[in-house]
Amino acid sequence: MPSVFFETFGCQMNVADSDMLVHALLARGFYNTESCLDADLIVVNTCSVREHAETRAKMRIGQYARHKIKRKLNQQIWVIGCMAQRLGKALIEEIKGVDRVVGAKDIVSFVNDIDGVISLPKTQEHDRSPISAFVPIMRGCNNFCSYCIVPYVRGEEQSVGVGQIIKSVRDLVDGGAKEITFLGQNVNSYRDGAVDFPDLLEKVHALEGLKRIRFTTSHPKDCTRKLVRAVATLPKLCKHIHLPVQSGSTRILGRMNRKYTRETYLDLIENIKSEASGIDLTTDIMVGFPTETEEDFLQTLSLIDSVKFTTAFMFAYSKRDSTAAATMPDDVSPEMKKKRLVRLIEAQTAITKDRYGEVIGKEVSVLFTERQQGRDKMWMGQDNGCKRVLLTCEEDIAGTILNVRVGRSSGMTLIGERISS
Ligand code: SAH
Ligand code: SF4
Ligand code: F3S
Repeated sequence: MPSVFFETFGCQMNVADSDMLVHALLARGFYNTESCLDADLIVVNTCSVREHAETRAKMRIGQYARHKIKRKLNQQIWVIGCMAQRLGKALIEEIKGVDRVVGAKDIVSFVNDIDGVISLPKTQEHDRSPISAFVPIMRGCNNFCSYCIVPYVRGEEQSVGVGQIIKSVRDLVDGGAKEITFLGQNVNSYRDGAVDFPDLLEKVHALEGLKRIRFTTSHPKDCTRKLVRAVATLPKLCKHIHLPVQSGSTRILGRMNRKYTRETYLDLIENIKSEASGIDLTTDIMVGFPTETEEDFLQTLSLIDSVKFTTAFMFAYSKRDSTAAATMPDDVSPEMKKKRLVRLIEAQTAITKDRYGEVIGKEVSVLFTERQQGRDKMWMGQDNGCKRVLLTCEEDIAGTILNVRVGRSSGMTLIGERISS
């Protein structure tokens, strides 16, 4: 049997794409290996969102390719995903040893036509679903935020049909999944005929056996009151919304083409907090966007101070060729970007610590998914929002939801004590 080794960079959409390809390969007799160097097939799924993401992926691919050539291995190396889309066949020229390049736009059709590539018979599959599974509900993006490469490498927005989504969720739940996460660059603009995103949530909510529903990412400009109401009222919907703000300065938001202002974003946050108190709000923030001044940056700091996000992903702006922002002067020096990023991370880390601290002594409902690596009795799970919880437990509690009392917090993880089953 041939073996395959996967390495996936980038966002959850890439994780879902890798899963889809893994699935197709396993169904043709491949087995997953952890040993990258002697695998028959190495697949690297790449990200282009920042220059650093591409540099890292190229480094890894280069290592694999050099090893393969040096040892004269009969090994295939495939590069897939967003960087594969951006650079195309040029990658085969640039890194000798790469056999195949499949861009992010082509991955679905590639997997559908896998029999044309792999001449192994399809076998019956009996694999279980993961306890928590990703379900892409749309692909691509039409928003063209001025800094962002995603619309170029993932193409136009396309929603998956409601029927197909319900079938996928049904199959996953029948296979043992308890939680699903709907994925899209902007799930709020989901539409299939008359069915919008909150309608889709309501339909899936009705599926028996499914315990929890999550989604990411919501674009603030399309986060409607109807969606907020759905999150607040549908019990299976986790109390967590990821709402990337990017900047606290209305001037910078305008140049980013985000289509909301500091004020409308804060109004939205107020609406969410009043409908669903205690909800976890998380975000993405960028520093050093072209022309960002100290004033603009202070606006970002004051915004995170007033919202009190549970956690945030924070980045320094990275210029991407062919985007609108690439024509603006990249005038914040690398040193200044780094300084602002450090200040931002420090401020948010303190807020995160407070948010985790608030739940000490309280009861939370946790879905446990797996054992902590190397520690048999330590189980990992997530509460009904976005917080990670650890629990010491002898029994196998994979896939169960338990009420747990929070004993303490390590800053970014809660340590639970069992109170009921
Ligand atoms: N679709 C999601 C984000 C996808 S990219 C959304 O609209 O929110 C994930 C995050 O990477 C973005 O939210 C942004 O904060 C960051 N990002 C995107 N392009 C970037 C760039 N050129 N430089 C630095 N960070 C970037
Ligand atoms: Fe990029 Fe904006 Fe689309 Fe998100 S919404 S993927 S940041 S263009
Ligand atoms: Fe995701 Fe990176 Fe592509 S963030 S959509 S893998 S460019």
